[in-house]
Amino acid sequence: MIYLDNAATSWPKPDSVPRAMAAFLREWAANPGRGGHSMSIEAGRRVLAVREKLAAFFGVRESDRVVFTLNATHALNLAILGYLREGDHVITSDMEHNAVSRPLTKLRQERGVEITIVPGAASGCVDPEDIRRAIKKNTRLVVLTHACNVTGTINPIKEVGRLLRELDIAFLVDAAQTAGHIPINVDEMCIDMLAFPGHKGLLGPPGTGGLYIRKGLHVLPLMEGGTGTHSEEERQPAAYPERHEAGTVNSVGIVGLGAGLDFLTEKGLEKISEVETELQERLIRGLNAIEGVSVHLANSPRVCTASFNMDGIEPQEVAYILDQAYGVAVRAGLHCAPWVHAAMGNAGRGSVRVSPGYFTSLEEIDDFLAAIQEIADERRR
Ligand code: ALA
Repeated sequence: MIYLDNAATSWPKPDSVPRAMAAFLREWAANPGRGGHSMSIEAGRRVLAVREKLAAFFGVRESDRVVFTLNATHALNLAILGYLREGDHVITSDMEHNAVSRPLTKLRQERGVEITIVPGAASGCVDPEDIRRAIKKNTRLVVLTHACNVTGTINPIKEVGRLLRELDIAFLVDAAQTAGHIPINVDEMCIDMLAFPGHKGLLGPPGTGGLYIRKGLHVLPLMEGGTGTHSEEERQPAAYPERHEAGTVNSVGIVGLGAGLDFLTEKGLEKISEVETELQERLIRGLNAIEGVSVHLANSPRVCTASFNMDGIEPQEVAYILDQAYGVAVRAGLHCAPWVHAAMGNAGRGSVRVSPGYFTSLEEIDDFLAAIQEIADERRR
């Protein structure tokens, strides 16, 4: 299998990830923070170590402000539903995934939250001036994806962050497609909340992710329940990270995520980004050279993800042929991002999305391009 679906979840993982998970499960998988015995204490220590690694990775000063979630969608829901109140105004873009657009739409319908959607999908990125112009007296939050999950194009997060910090408006960034691919520093980028998956660029297993919440921001919990501390309190404790971690955390997955982070740190994000840039440049150049293939925003700066359409053949069919005849895994359709496709004039059709990763070889990119060339030639015959 040539796996080109890393934007959905990364694969393969470094060998150290399953190894660390199996060892933890065999030796230490008691309930972290839920007992005074040695196994529980050790499990808690290992979970804390990963929290601290994540904080260091994203430039977070206080690691207790990094809370573990199931994935980026869970983190985004927690941030959006926990922060916005009736009568608030929120600005977002047409580059967002359903993990942002659905909770926002729910709030518009159920809590009277006003939404302004600025453009970005058709040009490749949002213009910070459009955000400045959209700000109203009741604007309390701006939610932006760091990179579009359909086209891979990158938003000017630092510029937007600086603008919002001056105006004291909270900034939530969806790092689903960038965490582990390009550098993120919440201080330098003036990010107040950062939602990230553990199972994509950070190379951890599915079922892991997190949300950074800047100190001083008031975010209501999505769930209430056992935290292992402050058990005498009737309501969910205010202390972080327990406030947002009701119930037993996915300790096995978190330990795997820690091994993924160690791998990234050892290689260095610069090296990862260099490898992925070479892959995506070869991919885009190759796709552009095939007659009947149109790459969306071929010339925009991007992470290692691209979307394209082919003349005379639907995206789902392309993906099916790639899988069945060539053993190539890609994703076709709307990629859970209908706003993006509507903005690109592709609403009813969707696209084929191809997303190599650090472990993809240049030969695999060439094999994929040869398959697309054959499919295009076949269709013209
Ligand atoms: N959000 C993931 C994607 O874009 C699953 O494919």
